Amino acid sequence: MNVAVVGAQWGDEGKGKVVDLLAPNFSLVARYQGGPNAGHTVVFGGRSHALQHIPSGIFHPHVRNLVGAGTLIDPDRILEEIAALRAQGIALEGHLVLSPRSHVILPCHRALDAAREGRLGGSAIGTTKKGIGPAYSSKAERWGLRLADLADAEEVERQVAQLLATGVGDLLASVGAEPLDAKDVAARARGWWRDLGPLVGDVTGELHRAIAAGQPILFEGAQGTMLDVDHGTYPFVTSSNTIAGGIPASLGIAPRAVERVVGVVKAYTTRVGAGPFPTEDTGALGDRLREAGREYGTVTGRPRRCGWFDAVAGRYAVRLNGLDALAVTKFDVLSGLPTVKIAVAYELDGERLDTVPPTVREYARAVPVYEELPGWNEPLTGVTSLAALPKNARAYLDRFTELAECPIGLLSVGPDRTATIIPDGSLLEPFRGALR
Ligand code: GDP
Ligand code: IMO
Ligand code: MG
Repeated sequence: MNVAVVGAQWGDEGKGKVVDLLAPNFSLVARYQGGPNAGHTVVFGGRSHALQHIPSGIFHPHVRNLVGAGTLIDPDRILEEIAALRAQGIALEGHLVLSPRSHVILPCHRALDAAREGRLGGSAIGTTKKGIGPAYSSKAERWGLRLADLADAEEVERQVAQLLATGVGDLLASVGAEPLDAKDVAARARGWWRDLGPLVGDVTGELHRAIAAGQPILFEGAQGTMLDVDHGTYPFVTSSNTIAGGIPASLGIAPRAVERVVGVVKAYTTRVGAGPFPTEDTGALGDRLREAGREYGTVTGRPRRCGWFDAVAGRYAVRLNGLDALAVTKFDVLSGLPTVKIAVAYELDGERLDTVPPTVREYARAVPVYEELPGWNEPLTGVTSLAALPKNARAYLDRFTELAECPIGLLSVGPDRTATIIPDGSLLEPFRGALR
């Protein structure tokens, strides 16, 4: 069975933990979009590992980790990531395969991202400044370099000279960024290809062969549904399709190969960067969730904005991704609150609204309608079954999945691999062995 793990909120839901946990049951783990804007944390054996480009199956020696065509690769950053893994004794040859079709983030993309954010001032998106928007733009505008292009430094020089001729040099100068030099990029490309070339392989062909042979594939998303470039809170989104529909296009496989989709959701909500967030709490509750949940960005260290679970956004994610099950994370963080709330609808200009409106102008005015439930004090880390949850925690979880209109597949009660419950009857029950 091929399974996709996607973010069902605004990112940082715990996708890395869930993918790492399920990975031993799969032959391949394939990342389908995003780039170094992602920060996926995996915790086991008392250590925490942060991944950006590299799929979260990398800690399991028999799993092959594929990075698909729809992703972005920043060569310097991925080489740092690789070096950090090698330093921990993790072998990557034969274990990590990069698509020759992935687009390359160049220094000019990072410069444009930072400059543009600076100029937007108070209207900035709050990007990770990793060059994501400009690199996906250059792909769509058809002047991007792909990983395979790095094999031929003369070709790189020619392509960069061509893009300079189309005005990118003027654009960089106008925002005060360092000039781009075709010879310099060509020289860097030689080093990048020397180090990355051995990891480049036929990702799409490998997926086709695995599908034909019935070998199970785990698809790994980055960011989250509400950051999807088409269906998220545009323009406060990332620049790729984060939803499950992005998988076949980015990896070059048939839509039917994505057999089951699991949506990762926190038991509450967080967002990093600007844009509407109806359940955001800028007071004591937000601070309490941020501290208890250690809600600081993996990539940028920025404090995450925090608030209650939003079942309207949750239902939207269930429909957009065709979610078969929810992986609810950070459930332990809610212990000790006298009451817990869930947004069940919004009110917009005096009318009740049951879905996410299309513009951020409207969404910014949406006021959540809450349902309040009693809280619980018992710590949850260490609980190994739903039956062992405190009564109020169980009631909250039941109401949560009922309002989201999707069954529970997995419950996470701490950062470590072992702090996980796969309930009886869950879609993920066949993978329970991974918890031992
Ligand atoms: P991702 O981007 O979706 O992979 O999520 P991140 O790794 O950016 O953020 C999730 C954070 O929550 C990481 O620091 C995880 O180690 C941590 N985490 C994951 N699941 C749980 C959980 O159930 N409880 C707690 N307390 N932390 C968790
Ligand atoms: P993971 O995979 C949370 C947010 C940024 C910003 C917006 C656009 O760890 O869940 P970008 O740099 O992509 O152009 O920024 O998207 N963002 C994320 N927020 N988790 C992420 O990834 C994110 N990747 C981008 O904060 O608001
Ligand atoms: Mg993250």
